[in-house]
Amino acid sequence: MTSQPHLKFAVLIMAVLMITGIVCYAAFSPPEPADPVRIMFQNDAGKVLFTHQIHTEDYYLDCLDCHHNIYDDETYNCSDCHEETGDDYMPSRTDALHETCIGCHADYGAGPVDCNACHVL
Ligand code: HEC
Ligand code: HEC
Ligand code: HEC
Ligand code: HEC
Repeated sequence: MTSQPHLKFAVLIMAVLMITGIVCYAAFSPPEPADPVRIMFQNDAGKVLFTHQIHTEDYYLDCLDCHHNIYDDETYNCSDCHEETGDDYMPSRTDALHETCIGCHADYGAGPVDCNACHVL
């Protein structure tokens, strides 16, 4: 048989454990990775505004349509692999971006393909 004081004590322990759990969860759960809303590419030809979030949400594109990945399903910066100057095997960062952005716009027949439609600023 459980006596009243024991029951109260058990309830108290439970409450303490629950609060500890909630606090720990709030304090230590890893934050969701924040995907960029928009990205401004600075370069010599004129700044390019890229609406990252609109591209993924409104145009229904898959992350991996752009973040092609040879190792896993994570999204990395293009420049982690594509450097300023490329070679026969590895396109430069600018070539990689031009081919991806303009290539898809041309394929879909939607989105800018002319230089000054992207390099607007
Ligand atoms: C239309 C092409 C495109 C799509 C679709 C896309 N991204 Fe991106 N994303 C980019 C480009 C371009 C960059 C900038 C990369 C750079 O500066 O090297 C970028 C940057 C990022 C970054 C910042 C990387 C860093 O380390 O700073 C994250 C995170 C990211 N994207 C996540 C996502 C996720 C998640 C999705 C799907 C929901 C997604 N992206 C869909 C093109 C795209
Ligand atoms: C983990 C490394 C890595 C990352 C990150 C990466 N790439 Fe690449 N990319 C490669 C390699 C390696 C090649 C060359 C081999 C191939 O075609 O798969 C390549 C080739 C390309 C090509 C030429 C494809 C073809 O078929 O000729 C384009 C375009 C490209 N990348 C665009 C991008 C863009 C845009 C991003 C960022 C959103 C990006 N890459 C991020 C490794 C990477
Ligand atoms: C996989 C396909 C795809 C890729 C890759 C892509 N886009 Fe687009 N983009 C679209 C579509 C679809 C539209 C919508 C056009 C419309 O509705 O008129 C668009 C529209 C745009 C527009 C005009 C409207 C807006 O949202 O700002 C700009 C600017 C643009 N894209 C820039 C870029 C840049 C810069 C890149 C490369 C970093 C890129 N896009 C890569 C599919 C793509
Ligand atoms: C769909 C959008 C888009 C179109 C269309 C486009 N560009 Fe770009 N361009 C970009 C982006 C994004 C970058 C930024 C690359 C980076 O940050 O490395 C860029 C970079 C450049 C650079 C800078 C290279 C450097 O090393 O700083 C030059 C030059 C350039 N573009 C010229 C052109 C010319 C010429 C055309 C027309 C034939 C053109 N672009 C069409 C998106 C576009």
